[in-house]
Amino acid sequence: MRLRYKRWARPYIEAQKNVYIDSKELKGEVFANIIARDNVYLEIGGGRGDFIVEMATNNEDFTFVMVEKNLNAAAMAIRKIVDADLKNVYVIIKDFFRIKEHFPNESIKGIFLNFSDPWPKTRHAKRRLTHENALKEYRRILIPSGKIAFKTDNVNFYTYSIGRFREYNWDIDFNSYNYSGKDDFDAQSEYEKNFRYQRIPICRLIASKGENVYDTE
Ligand SMILES: C[S@@+](CC[C@H](N)C(=O)[O-])C[C@H]1O[C@@H](n2cnc3c(N)ncnc32)[C@H](O)[C@@H]1O
Repeated sequence: MRLRYKRWARPYIEAQKNVYIDSKELKGEVFANIIARDNVYLEIGGGRGDFIVEMATNNEDFTFVMVEKNLNAAAMAIRKIVDADLKNVYVIIKDFFRIKEHFPNESIKGIFLNFSDPWPKTRHAKRRLTHENALKEYRRILIPSGKIAFKTDNVNFYTYSIGRFREYNWDIDFNSYNYSGKDDFDAQSEYEKNFRYQRIPICRLIASKGENVYDTE
């Protein structure tokens, strides 16, 4: 996602204390209290926030946390959240891999990965949000009945990702290379809207934690 530098972004974000979780708060009580709630859902790489805004609007009793490393995209997401007057969405502007330790064990009910960057080159495989390292972290932070919902237009990335979920013993609850979009607990992200407009099929997988294949530490 290429976005031009937005001069308004930084001061605007910093003024949105009820939505934006900064680095200091991430380590403190504010975030600890948010993450201790029941029914916390996490979207990683939420872009400009269309998905999270719709989900939070339709599910007011649930809490949504969006992690997005691109400041300009996140600023646009925060603006949508503020304009919609949503009180159940929080935004962290960081690379997930750099802040993952702030998510306690078994604190998240569901993780959404929408049109994550596929990183097709093998040397970049570790950056994929469905890489083994990421799946290991998701398993740690999800509650026992926790699930991941993953959508992409990229068939190779999808096939790779199903392979990793299977390899690391996740149960595949739903698997489609041409997802209809019919699920009450889902929403269209900006990328999904664009792909559907172009009639590009959407792949979708829902996986839940099977038995842990990693050694417990
Ligand atoms: C292709 S865009 C998709 C945006 C949005 N999910 C959508 O479907 O419209 C991928 C987004 O993920 C973000 N991203 C990629 N890796 C990330 C990571 N490790 N942590 C946080 N954000 C990440 C990128 O900055 C980008 O905004």
